[in-house]
Amino acid sequence: QVECPVSYNARNPDYSISQGACFSPCTWDGSNCWLPDFPSYGYVVDGPSTNISASIRIPLRKFGPSLYGLDVTSIVVEISILTENSVRIKFYDPANQRYEVPISINNAPSGKQLSTSEFDVIYPEQVGSVFSLQIIRKSTGTVIFDTSVAGITFEDQLLSLAIRLPSRNVYGLGESYHPTFRRELDDSTWPLWARDEPPNPFAKTSLYGVHPYYSVIEADGNSHGVLLFNSNAQEYLLQSTAPAVVFRTIGGVLDFYVMTGPTPEDVTRQYTSLVGRSFLPPYWSLGFQLSRYGYNNLQNMKDAIARTKSCNIPLDVFYGDIDTMDQQADFTIDPVNFVGLPEYVDEQRALGMRYVPIIDPAIPGNRPGYPTYERGLRAGAYITTETGDILFGNVWPPEPVAFPDFLRPGTLDWWITEITEFYQTIKFDGLWIDMNEPANFNTNIPGSEYTLSCPTNRWDDPPYVPKAGRLGPTDRLSDKTICLANTQGENGTYRHYDVHSLYGYTETIPTSIACQSATGKRGLVFTRSSFVGSGILGGHWTGDNYAYWDHLQYSVIGLLDFNIFGLPYVGADICAYFGDSEERLCERWQELGAFYPFSRNHNTLGTTDQDPCTWPLTVGESTRKAVTIRYTLLPYFYTSFYRANQGIDGTVIRSLAWEFTSDQETWNIDRQFLWRDALLVSPALDIDSVVVSAYFPAGDWFDYYTGEKYTSIGTYILLGAPTDFIPVHVRGGYILPTQEPASNTVLSRQNTFGLIVALDGARTAIGDLFWDDGESIDTVSSGTYHYGTFNFAQDTLTQTVVNNYPAALEGLVLDKIEILGNNGQVPTSVSGDISVDALITYDSTYDKVIITGAAIPIAQAFTIT
Ligand code: GLC
Repeated sequence: QVECPVSYNARNPDYSISQGACFSPCTWDGSNCWLPDFPSYGYVVDGPSTNISASIRIPLRKFGPSLYGLDVTSIVVEISILTENSVRIKFYDPANQRYEVPISINNAPSGKQLSTSEFDVIYPEQVGSVFSLQIIRKSTGTVIFDTSVAGITFEDQLLSLAIRLPSRNVYGLGESYHPTFRRELDDSTWPLWARDEPPNPFAKTSLYGVHPYYSVIEADGNSHGVLLFNSNAQEYLLQSTAPAVVFRTIGGVLDFYVMTGPTPEDVTRQYTSLVGRSFLPPYWSLGFQLSRYGYNNLQNMKDAIARTKSCNIPLDVFYGDIDTMDQQADFTIDPVNFVGLPEYVDEQRALGMRYVPIIDPAIPGNRPGYPTYERGLRAGAYITTETGDILFGNVWPPEPVAFPDFLRPGTLDWWITEITEFYQTIKFDGLWIDMNEPANFNTNIPGSEYTLSCPTNRWDDPPYVPKAGRLGPTDRLSDKTICLANTQGENGTYRHYDVHSLYGYTETIPTSIACQSATGKRGLVFTRSSFVGSGILGGHWTGDNYAYWDHLQYSVIGLLDFNIFGLPYVGADICAYFGDSEERLCERWQELGAFYPFSRNHNTLGTTDQDPCTWPLTVGESTRKAVTIRYTLLPYFYTSFYRANQGIDGTVIRSLAWEFTSDQETWNIDRQFLWRDALLVSPALDIDSVVVSAYFPAGDWFDYYTGEKYTSIGTYILLGAPTDFIPVHVRGGYILPTQEPASNTVLSRQNTFGLIVALDGARTAIGDLFWDDGESIDTVSSGTYHYGTFNFAQDTLTQTVVNNYPAALEGLVLDKIEILGNNGQVPTSVSGDISVDALITYDSTYDKVIITGAAIPIAQAFTIT
């Protein structure tokens, strides 16, 4: 049985259902309200199936009771095999073109019929049979997708499908703050609706982005993934019995993609091949970054940067938040408090620093001397109301604001021009796009100035209101955003009702184009609101977190979630956005944050400074240690992003469950994570704790700091973690490229390289290095990059150059090689393509061989023994 979809506005404040709210055909059992049992309603097969353009179409007809009315009586389910490992199942109305997500993904059907080497698709063919569909993994017989748990609902404004799960190991579905990476199947309902809502660990709320996608690890360790490609307001129920995931959406079509792995990494790769591989970030964006809202003037900004540099913390990027603007208007600079900012930016950029300003979508109207708005008006760039007037809301600027409609071509040209012209004012290297849910303050709250009050209509007040509407002051979907009846697109093609959750996605596209055309470089764009496929162009930060220890812990889950969503460039605000951070918390956060892909300290207006060197005690020193490790490992980090970009790997930050799937203990670990496959990070995440109980999957692990080896059979180890220390381990069998750190990446990229060669029991190891100039556009497609693979076996270390581009590494040498886990074998000499002056030493305490002065040109193939 599946819970009845009772509209949230008919529920109690705690989201429970009372008997009075339970309506026919649902039934009340004394404590909950249930849908009728399957198969007493749903759809039946209505005729023979047909093969049309490489897909199978089956006509279906509604039977049984309706829930909210306006059922689409005749629908079609179209099944298209895409690859050996993926299938699309789309339910739609053949008579009326309904809204579909206007994003193209890689969904070309292969023409195969209902079966591949990996899976079978089973459904009834006989006319009149109740329709349900199963996907069966051939190798194990596991039913990985099964809709026979509830009837399909396909009404005009409520569509629902329940999927019985083959196991309870469900991951993904976001963006939300949930306390475990493996989702709890506790009968809770979660929203999927882009909303400016700070993460709240006590409420199951919508956050900024929408990713209706989950991955499951089946009981035997095989894995599959399911995407519902739909952008309307949704909710999903994680049902304990069955168990099941129930999707409910209030528009569009039911368009599912199922990927069959069989490993979790395969599933993620299959997913990114469908929705798009993640972008390759510029090298500098892997450096440490400093930001805050509320420097309030240039001097405070300069002071924070100077403090950080003076305590020798590597730093690459600094930020301009809305307080650098003239009364929060995009593309302006506060002429009083930030006079001199462009010159300061020039000065810092000359030293190798990068500057990233914020951009909000909300454009103040009616401000004398502010031409951006007027130009947007001429371009027809703004979202309009149903009556064709420009929609005005209220965000940061003091004036009413208009919202660009990024679904109109004219908007794109105007936006790109504004950004390109802003580059003439101030030289930036990347762009930070915020408030793009889109956020609007005070919607539906009477009395406040410029309040947007949404009219009553079937979009703003649909018959079924999913949980997405909750938590606002009036419990409407439009709370904290704009009205849903507004139109978007050329000639008003779309309702905001349908495309709301695509706002951030659609803003990322022209912003990324503009960033590249303005700077002539690859650049960095990262967005608060994201959707399926956003990782192609942008990164993400997890929004306005609080200075709580649990927000430090949950930040790891945010990294893991966004990595399986295909947005590996992700990080949380280090030391927290809201609330005065506290010294011990900030210290731990800096240590963990040194291993975020996107490593930025950021906080809000009015909170005390929290840059690492502002603290009286040890935060600065602990940060320096951790960030120095980061800079040492940047060649490995950058290579990991290349691999995700090329689909060699799925994730960059990887859960232990994704890498060591055959070890069930890993399935629920979310306080540790891997960088790719070879670096294990086990942060201290609890107040006052100076030990970490860390899990080590079977194999050899080496302490990053000492090289000490631990051979695990799959156990927890209590690691010491003094306040200035974050435990990090290298996995035996892997070679990690490193580089001598420096105060920023412009300088570190000129330093000598190293290799950490961590041997497994057979004394072998593999690794690789991707390198390019770190900032040009399309280095991979133009072949202007180096890619080499390393191999260690039988006392011989080689690099094979897979893509030869010596210009990328001109003058750079591999100087230091550390071989860990040498099985006590004391080396006597080193020979091959190596300097005659190389020194080889052996550390018998940690069984470590250290070669220095190797002077091997790293662009070239080499062999040393
Ligand atoms: C939003 C952002 C935050 C930013 C602030 C001011 O709250 O999430 O990062 O500092 O707006 O621009």
